[in-house]
Amino acid sequence: MSNSFTLTNISQLVTNNSALGDGQLGVINDAAITVTDGIVSWVGQSSQADSSVPKTDVGGRSLIPGFVDSHSHIMFAGDRSQEFAARMAGVPYSAGGIKVTTEATRNASDDQLLNVARGLIKEMHESGTTTVEIKSGYGLDVATEERSLRIAAELTDEVTFLGAHVVAQEFADNADAYVDLVVGEMLEACAPHSKWIDVFCDRGAFTTEQSRRILEAGIKKGLQPRIHLNQLEQGEGVVMAIELDCASADHMTYLTDDDISALAASSTVAGLVPGADFSTRAPHYPRGRDLLDAGAAVALSPDCNPGSSYTTNMPFCIALAVREMHLTVDEALFAATMGGAIALRRDDVGHLSIGARANFALLNAPSYIHLAYRPGVPLISTTWKDGNVIFTKGDIA
Ligand code: NIG
Ligand code: FE
Repeated sequence: MSNSFTLTNISQLVTNNSALGDGQLGVINDAAITVTDGIVSWVGQSSQADSSVPKTDVGGRSLIPGFVDSHSHIMFAGDRSQEFAARMAGVPYSAGGIKVTTEATRNASDDQLLNVARGLIKEMHESGTTTVEIKSGYGLDVATEERSLRIAAELTDEVTFLGAHVVAQEFADNADAYVDLVVGEMLEACAPHSKWIDVFCDRGAFTTEQSRRILEAGIKKGLQPRIHLNQLEQGEGVVMAIELDCASADHMTYLTDDDISALAASSTVAGLVPGADFSTRAPHYPRGRDLLDAGAAVALSPDCNPGSSYTTNMPFCIALAVREMHLTVDEALFAATMGGAIALRRDDVGHLSIGARANFALLNAPSYIHLAYRPGVPLISTTWKDGNVIFTKGDIA
């Protein structure tokens, strides 16, 4: 027997399907949505909803697709608040802090790692995120990388092997020997739990040549590539990332005009993580406006991690994207939903067309514009994933 419900009296329903409503966001005003067995089965005018399906009146609030967070580092233990405080007092950010988290992560039990990640996923649900990618990268040895990924796979289908986050301390004098380990025994142990492979291609992490070697080894093992690129300085990695068909190239605080043109002509999504630029006090934000003007696809993510961006909050990133990267509110919301889905090469999430997963968030606001207009205000009333409520403030009937 099918199980259906309808939400009515939605002031603005964002479908992300321009065939269903106005503009890029496909907005339907005075809308309703029907869910059947966890899938969107109908959207339209509230007055046209099938009267035989049980209804809930959401009181003129707006409804958006659940955020798709295509970039998180939530498999870790320990605390780096002191490092943040020091940074705000003038110490520059470097990838070196990763080693501090690595030590704590290696010493943590499976249960401790699971509990940290679960707590952060709960925060994501509270702020409207319904799909999350999770990376390893704080183990940097075979056993800890393997168990980080095994635990991550209990929490999401979007699991990413990032053994090449930085060179493990034990290999400080011989980065190539660490790369040998990553593409050999570590990949062998980690590939069965992973869908994606990632590498941090930047100053203090891996060179473009090493990054290519790591991604190619992962691809050979059946993993799909994505990359951390140009967070700390302008590098040469964009061409390589596109050549390997990385699903996304993330950070990219430094980009040349040629990089932007190349991305626009590729199927690699620019994964922008302005929370990291904010929390590391980067000299500038990524060139989001230029990327969109050139025709590149853009995803937004909080990049939740204990070092450079300890936030799970996508609305905060939308506000930053609008204020600091000059995206319109519509572009920023699209990047946080559909952009993330494209970055994960998923067509079942990030939009509310018929047949999509019933993943959505109800805002305590008459318009989705409030996501950027009311920065820092927790606007999410209720979040659904596959048609089930996964978070609610209990403020709808
Ligand atoms: O995405 N850039 C590399 N990795 C993380 C930061 C890791 C850390 O500082 O712990 C990031 O920003
Ligand atoms: Fe990251």
